Amino acid sequence: MKIPLVDLKANYLSVKKEIDEKIFSVIGDTAFVKGRELDDFEKNWALKCNAECCAGLANGTVSLELILKALGIGPGDEVIVPSHTFIATAEAVANCGAKPVFADCIEKTALIDPESVKSSLNVKTKAVIIVDLYGQPADHNAVKAAAGENVFIIQDAAQSHLASYKNKTVGSYAYATSFSFYPGKNLGAFGDAGAVVTNDRGLCEKIKMLSDHGRMSKYEHLVCGTNARMDNIQAAVLNVKMRHLALWNEKRKKTVDVYKKSLKNSVSFFELEPSAVSSNHLIVIRTPERNDLKRYLEERGISAGIHYPVPLHLQPAFSELGYKTGDLPVTEKIADEILSLPVYPEMTEEQTEYVIENVKKYFRQG
Ligand SMILES: Cc1ncc(COP(=O)(O)O)c(C=O)c1O
Repeated sequence: MKIPLVDLKANYLSVKKEIDEKIFSVIGDTAFVKGRELDDFEKNWALKCNAECCAGLANGTVSLELILKALGIGPGDEVIVPSHTFIATAEAVANCGAKPVFADCIEKTALIDPESVKSSLNVKTKAVIIVDLYGQPADHNAVKAAAGENVFIIQDAAQSHLASYKNKTVGSYAYATSFSFYPGKNLGAFGDAGAVVTNDRGLCEKIKMLSDHGRMSKYEHLVCGTNARMDNIQAAVLNVKMRHLALWNEKRKKTVDVYKKSLKNSVSFFELEPSAVSSNHLIVIRTPERNDLKRYLEERGISAGIHYPVPLHLQPAFSELGYKTGDLPVTEKIADEILSLPVYPEMTEEQTEYVIENVKKYFRQG
């Protein structure tokens, strides 16, 4: 049996008719950039997230970057980010000229540690980007309390579509929340796409303007922006898929619950923050035998991933910041032990059982 980490083909086939019709209607209208599908997407996604306003954008990296730029963050400023995340979180900070400052994570959750945020603060700190890694909402309130009133809390929700925290939908409580719709995400486009949601309408409009060459009207440009718009084919795909997202997240949860129940004596799992509901974007196990287990599973047709093997503070891209091994010990330990097992909405019970049996077999063999 071959089991991928995610099955994009199965996902497409489950909604093929609806999606094909929508895509061909955009092509028929030759309405590729700006227009009805993007407007609908922004309205629909803001509603789903229970946020005031949404800006549809080109990807989830530029969406973080435009939040920072729209807040006036740039050279001379510092932004605290977890080291245990995808590089885009920190890249966005560097790309707007500010300095990323790396925080450690909590061992039980793998999410940003408010104590580490507190010890990284100084007068230059303008924002903290919390990341809902694996789909698990980070503890926004604890980070906010640690960072204080004058620091913006921005949420990187690239992996946590429709997750919730203290009964609030992700996107409704941080100052601004960034999403990625990269194809493998819970809500995935047919290419690159991203969005920002926020309750600050002024910020939202500024981000839309920055993403569209700083335009006020076709030939009037207030500031130098960029081209970071979401195109209408991606918006159309997302408008269709969004209708299925809650059900897809439920299906992911069912698989994750079975993994947790069946493997609790073999490996450990991360815990959720209190009152948080995950989107179950990834199911990540921890074992000191990670590399051998990964090889064993792959030899039996099971894809397994590592999110992420090299902490950002130790990446060559950030070497000039002067971090060294040992600076963020929890992050470094976790990076050596994590392994992501396959999870996607279309995963069958038989496939889940096959993964579980093989993980158990590996540990039985000793
Ligand atoms: C945590 C996190 N932040 C940001 C991004 C960047 O999103 P994109 O690939 O859409 O630029 C990703 C996507 O992989 C991500 O996982």
